[in-house]
Amino acid sequence: MSIISFSHVSKKYPGEVLALSEISLEINEGELVFLTGPSGAGKSTLLKLIAGMEKPSAGVLQVSGQDMRKLNRTTLPFLRRKLGLIMQQQRLLFDRDVVTNVMLPLIIGGATLQEAHARACIALERVGMQGKLLAMPKTLSGGEQQRVSIARAVVHKPRIILADEPTATLDRENGRMVLEMLEAFNRAGVTCIISTHDERLLQDADRIVELLHGHLIGIRSADSEVGA
Ligand SMILES: Nc1ncnc2c1ncn2[C@@H]1O[C@H](COP(=O)(O)OP(=O)(O)OP(=O)(O)O)[C@@H](O)[C@H]1O
Ligand SMILES: [Mg+2]
Repeated sequence: MSIISFSHVSKKYPGEVLALSEISLEINEGELVFLTGPSGAGKSTLLKLIAGMEKPSAGVLQVSGQDMRKLNRTTLPFLRRKLGLIMQQQRLLFDRDVVTNVMLPLIIGGATLQEAHARACIALERVGMQGKLLAMPKTLSGGEQQRVSIARAVVHKPRIILADEPTATLDRENGRMVLEMLEAFNRAGVTCIISTHDERLLQDADRIVELLHGHLIGIRSADSEVGA
């Protein structure tokens, strides 16, 4: 049963930049999908369309049953509750400590401080950051900051995690660790879509979607290779 369905989806930015062209792709519940392709290929755009941060210019995109053309101020918060976002631009708040950074999405969602604190602690424990609850983000390494970002993305127990180049700024060891954490959420049933430039991360991927200049040029799976 597909949880994300692209049918002939195109995205044109102002200035006639065609970032995605006629993408058709089904992603099933519980899948781990890697999105790859060179800079400018459209990886971030594809993730932003799923997140409802950009709207398709043409075609039909459904995310968890929601027609993304019909997304509005009422339906967006419902969709967002199902999504955990680890985007390149969404950095931690540097004037708030670690646990507050992770609590914020819950507080915005209406949780009490006590409840938000308890759940943030559980999420931080899952990424091995329980010892740094009161640390300020600037005192953390890049890998540690990324682990806090993951905790923030998963604290509300999303069904889908979208991660845009989550290992790009990390060394190999930290990149591996972050990837293993995302894989652990996937094993627990969460659908994960991870964009990366890094071929090394793709070695044990189940399914790899390759983009080039906005076109889907191939879908590789562990045991087959199909041109699109
Ligand atoms: N807000 C925007 N306005 C106009 N053009 C944009 C915008 N965002 C992206 N683009 C263009 O759309 C195309 C795809 O960009 P996108 O960011 O999706 O690529 P990417 O595969 O994520 O690249 P990278 O690997 O560098 O992150 C590029 O040509 C880019 O310049
Ligand atoms: Mg990008």
